[in-house]
Order: sequence, then structure tokens, then C-alpha cells
Amino acid sequence: MSHERDPKRDGLAVARRRFLSAVAASGAAAGLTGLVRPAQAANPDNLPPNEPEWARVLGPGVDDRGYGLPSIYEKHVKRRWVPWLTASSESTVNFTPLQDLHGFVTPNGVCFERHHSGRAEIDPEDHRLIIHGLVDKPLMFTVEDLKRMPSESHFYFCECAANSGMEWRNAQLNGVQFTHGMVHCVHWTGVPLRVLFEQTGLKPNAKWVLAEGADGAAMTRSIPMEKALDDCLVAYAQNGEALRPEQGYPIRLVVPGFEANMWVKWLRRLEVGDQAWYHREETSKYTDLLPSGKAYIFSWVMEAKSVITFPCPEKPLNGPGYYSVRGLAWSGRGRITRVDVSFDGGRNWQTAKLQDPVYPKCLTRFEIPWRWNGERALLVSRAIDETGYVQPTMYELQKVRGVESVYHNNGQQVWEVKPSGEVENVRLRYVNA
Ligand code: MTE
Repeated sequence: MSHERDPKRDGLAVARRRFLSAVAASGAAAGLTGLVRPAQAANPDNLPPNEPEWARVLGPGVDDRGYGLPSIYEKHVKRRWVPWLTASSESTVNFTPLQDLHGFVTPNGVCFERHHSGRAEIDPEDHRLIIHGLVDKPLMFTVEDLKRMPSESHFYFCECAANSGMEWRNAQLNGVQFTHGMVHCVHWTGVPLRVLFEQTGLKPNAKWVLAEGADGAAMTRSIPMEKALDDCLVAYAQNGEALRPEQGYPIRLVVPGFEANMWVKWLRRLEVGDQAWYHREETSKYTDLLPSGKAYIFSWVMEAKSVITFPCPEKPLNGPGYYSVRGLAWSGRGRITRVDVSFDGGRNWQTAKLQDPVYPKCLTRFEIPWRWNGERALLVSRAIDETGYVQPTMYELQKVRGVESVYHNNGQQVWEVKPSGEVENVRLRYVNA
């Protein structure tokens, strides 16, 4: 346990260490483009014109690994958690290493995990999905039954409503992994709920669905029938393979664009009713407390949000020069249509390029060229979605929502790039706002 780093202190320490070693390796920061790792950092025996050591031996054979693993040189790419955040490791969250990922797909092994009662390990032979309540014919399905049905595959992001929740009052955690890593984006395959309800039939007053998990928490959420029949899936695969236990093996609910708490994992029961159930996860939790003391309930949709993933506290700059600034944007309401990036704290904005493909309710990768002159800079991104909604500044968000909330923080993230190249999570003060 103790090998986990303290992100509060360590995000910057890591950034500093990496930066210093890069500078030491190059002899001096001046003149580096930051695009090429300095040759001095490598073992010169392996560099041209020499023949590297791996070119002089036979590699392991094809029987070496039945299931592939990342290169041993990518060991730093992993989920991390914040031990001081919660009392136990079973009811908490770990974070996706956004700073180390490319494109918009999250590899299965690093999708953030959020459990209320630890990871359930379920034998699919012993697992069933029951559908009952206001249906014409209650049914029970095995996992194999589900796999025989017509299925669909879609890329969708899945974001915990508490993502960036620690950042409401001020800049708190110094790393994109910890500020924004409660999101993943996966190619889900499963049976549309509409197909299952076609089989059970629905009573005329069937308005809500209660989804229940088979883990120790028996987590439940009420889903409006309109959403259930629209695009919800009972997924059994992610990124081309069976769901990982962390993500709900053997089956989970996929509720595109809605807060991840509703994506019930280890799904075992769907009860159809005529009203919502008002269970714990939709009353005491996952409601948004306002300055008035009242709270929003059923604030399901994850509004448009974006973050710059390079540079970031974990990925500092390596001297002045050209950089391709990159990030991710997403919206629970549909497609991202534009991302703007500012290098001066939001005074001036430039439009970034969106990488194809741009799918609805899916992470979208953006990129913008930047020639850094070595001076202090304040990098910010803002996402705009197909409804015309513009991602707010933290100031704008706080004006409406106050600071008591935990959930649904989609405010703009500001990174300060220092002349040293280090990057820090900062909050702007709006003097004349
Ligand atoms: N489903 C069950 N059965 N048990 C849980 O603890 N956690 C929920 C949701 N589904 C949870 C669950 C929460 S709060 C989140 S954020 C997402 O699962 C996390 O999904 P992930 O672990 O695939 O990232």
C-alpha cells in the first residue's frame, strides 16, 4: 500500500524529477525541442551506428505469452489511487492515467475503477439477469442467452459524477490523472435494453427501471424508461474482449452520456416500475447541493468538459520550442463540435483541431501547435458541444452551483507552465468579474 504515491505532494515532485533528469541528460535545457529524447539519456552502445543488444539475440518465442502485456518500459502507465481520500480501498476509486494515453480509446487494463464494495469476481455460469415488475412476461437470462441476441457496439465515455470533485473550491491535486482521471472511453458490445424489453413486453405504466448489481453493495439506480429504450446496453464486452471484472464482468449496464454511477456493474436485476425508487445513490449521494441549501436531483447528464493532457503536471515541457498541445473533450449530450485553447489564461482563444473520428458521447482528441517561448503561460481548454453549450470557467460554475457540491464539476482546467517547464494545477482569480 505504501508504495502508492501521495499525489498532493508528489505530482509536482515527479514532474520536477522528470524535468531535472531530462535537463541533466541533455547537459542544458537550451535548444531542446522537447520532441526527441536526448541521445545522452540512452545507452550509447545501443545507438546507431552500433547494433543494439536486442538485435544480437533470439527473442522469446510465440509460446511465451498467451495474453500480451505492455512493454516493461511502460510500467509507469497505471491506475493510481489516493489513499487519504477514503477510509478503505474497497469503497473508493482509482484514476485513469490520461497523461500517458493516445487517441481516445482507454486500454482495458487502465480504465478507472469505482467500487462501493470491492471488485466482485463472478462465475458467469452462476450469474443470471432477471427482468420483472411491470412487464408482461418476467424473464431470466444466462450470460450465454444474452450473447445469442442481436447486439450493438459503440464507443462511449463513462465519467464518474465525482470526477474533478476535489477541485470545487480550489486547485487541489497536481496531476491530470487525479483531477480528471475518473473517465474512460471504451468500445462497448452488448444487447440494447430495448431488445430485452421487446421480449418481456412492458405494461402501459412502465416508466422507470431499477438496475441492481450483484456485488456486496447491491448497488441500485433508477433509470427513466425513455433513456432505457433509447440507447442503454447490457454490455458483455469492452474493446473487443469480455468485460474486465473491474468493469462489471460478466455484464454491466451502459447508460451513454449519463453519470457513471448509473452504469450498474455486475448487473443481476432490472425491475420495471411506474416511479423512481429514490434509493441511497440518488438521494443522499449523486445529488448536487446548491448555495440555497436545496439540491439538484437526477442531474444525470455529464455536460461538456475538456482537459489538456499534454503538457500537464505529470508531463512537463523540456525547454522552449515547438510542441503539439493535446487534450480530450467529451459531452454527454452528443458530439463535441469545437475545442478552444488559450495560452494566456482565457484572454485569447484559438480553435484546436479535432482528431477523427468524432463520435457522440465519446472522448474526442484535440490538438493544437504551440511554439513556447519559455515564458510563464496559462493553458486552458474549453469544449463546445452540438447543443451549442460552452464549458464554463470555474468562476461561472461556482456562481450557479456554489462550492458545496461534489459532483458534476465540468469547469475549465488551468495549467500554469513555468519558465522551468514544470506545470502546475492553478486556479485563476477573476479580479473584475
Ligand atoms: N455498480 C455496482 N454494482 N457497484 C458499484 O460500486 N459503482 C458505480 C458504477 N457502477 C458501482 C457500480 C460508480 S460510482 C461508478 S463511477 C462506475 O460504476 C465506475 O465504473 P468503472 O469501475 O467501470 O470505471
